[in-house]
Amino acid sequence: MILVLDFGSQYNQLITRRIREHGVYSELHPHQITADEVRQLNPKGIILSGGPHSVYDANSFRCDPDIFELGIPVLGICYGMQLMALHFGGEVARDANREYGKAVIELQHDPILFKGTPEMQTVWMSHGDKVMQTPDSFQTEATSRSTPIAAMSDQDRQLYGVQFHPEVRHSEYGQDLLRHFVYDVCGCQGDWTIENFIEMEVANIRSKVGDRKVLCALSGGVDSSVVAALIHKAIGKQLTCIFVDHGLLRKNEAEEVTRTFDDDFDMHFIKIDAADRFLSKLKGVDDPEQKRKIIGNEFIYVFDDEADKLKDIDFLAQGTLYTDVIESGTETAQTIKSHHNVGGLPEDMQFDLIEPLNTLFKDEVRELGLQLGLPENIVWRQPFPGPGLAIRVLGEVTEEKLAIVRESDAILREEIAAAGLDRDIWQYFTVLPDIRSVGVMGDARTYDYTIGIRAVTSVDGMTSDWARIPWDVLEKISTRIVNDVEHINRVVYDVTSKPPATIEWE
Ligand code: XMP
Repeated sequence: MILVLDFGSQYNQLITRRIREHGVYSELHPHQITADEVRQLNPKGIILSGGPHSVYDANSFRCDPDIFELGIPVLGICYGMQLMALHFGGEVARDANREYGKAVIELQHDPILFKGTPEMQTVWMSHGDKVMQTPDSFQTEATSRSTPIAAMSDQDRQLYGVQFHPEVRHSEYGQDLLRHFVYDVCGCQGDWTIENFIEMEVANIRSKVGDRKVLCALSGGVDSSVVAALIHKAIGKQLTCIFVDHGLLRKNEAEEVTRTFDDDFDMHFIKIDAADRFLSKLKGVDDPEQKRKIIGNEFIYVFDDEADKLKDIDFLAQGTLYTDVIESGTETAQTIKSHHNVGGLPEDMQFDLIEPLNTLFKDEVRELGLQLGLPENIVWRQPFPGPGLAIRVLGEVTEEKLAIVRESDAILREEIAAAGLDRDIWQYFTVLPDIRSVGVMGDARTYDYTIGIRAVTSVDGMTSDWARIPWDVLEKISTRIVNDVEHINRVVYDVTSKPPATIEWE
């Protein structure tokens, strides 16, 4: 195991992920961990992450200095290197010329971390301070124009520091550097796989839960599905999943979720058919914010009603990913007022939280889902908003309009998949604006609805661009929707990025 100490860098989880890509297990821990605790974890190597502070700031993060005396190889990255330099008597200086972005470094020796890589190479720098003088026992391994000590090492004690960020793709040979550290310096084997993760987490969950019970709000989305499958593997029927069908799901979605979890996995699965409840609350409401609020609240009421009937639940499972973890990402359980997270369980219920995915990235979660036996249609599900199709029927939601969106959306999904684009386009769906226009079908005039197609590429949904779907694919989609979906006589394609638009229309 490679231990990464968290000094607050935005890249800290990326380091653990890169190490895992080399087949070596890695965990992120807070920088306050003591040398004794590190000894107990028994890592083969330690990486000190970067961080936003200057080592000279009054409250800058430090680590237990005894960690350097454990005889475990250490790699300091950016702030981590400066901390190491300071600890061993080197000199760190604040530089007026902060350095952000690409820089070229030149290797000085034939250092082990850079084995087999070119003498000049591009790296990614992001720092204010820099090491000006190495500690006595260290030697400079690389320099750049504005950073005289871009890398340093004390090979006898197996201590290494790099001023740049090897974990970022812009560092050309960063992956090689991390591989040399974990294989050649730390002696790791590279035999860690996602199956090991499953074994480890199953053991963790079992020891944490014992014979108590866990509740999971299952939406059918990737994250909650994978969490449910993982916890079910660990504790079987001690897990209860509640799935609320609010009647605003896509075509066949409720059936697919039920088939997977209730039938195939044979979970303790409670499906609540609450479509009538939601639709009657939405009747006559056309304001988007009002619609969202109603759905959010109703979800809580329905969930509360069911959770209330269950006795002796101690844990709440959540599919939190590393991206959702604001703090250090190492706390796997914390006591919460339940309504903070699932949006409102009864006030007097206290749960411990189980978040076994909070060290993983989305693609790792997908791989985990496949290993756990979840079907591809769940593992590769695109993002789907909590309020469901209600925010894709613009204005008042009616059964008839929901059916139009559901049918057109199913056609869109089929054709996108048939064109082999379903993994390239981040999200794609249809919307029903509240407008009608004139058309002609056969020889008859029509006056009917328009369907909008929205398809975007994005990394995290914060920004997006409209997807360049080939014309012939769009043509096929348009033809099928107009022919097969009643009350549609026109199809338009949304060519707006976010910003200024949003991905959803409401
Ligand atoms: P917008 O429309 O804000 O959407 O650009 C960004 C991403 O978030 C999804 N979305 C939601 N997800 N509950 C959710 O769980 C919501 O209320 C919600 N609203 C939007 C949207 O589908 C897109 O992926």
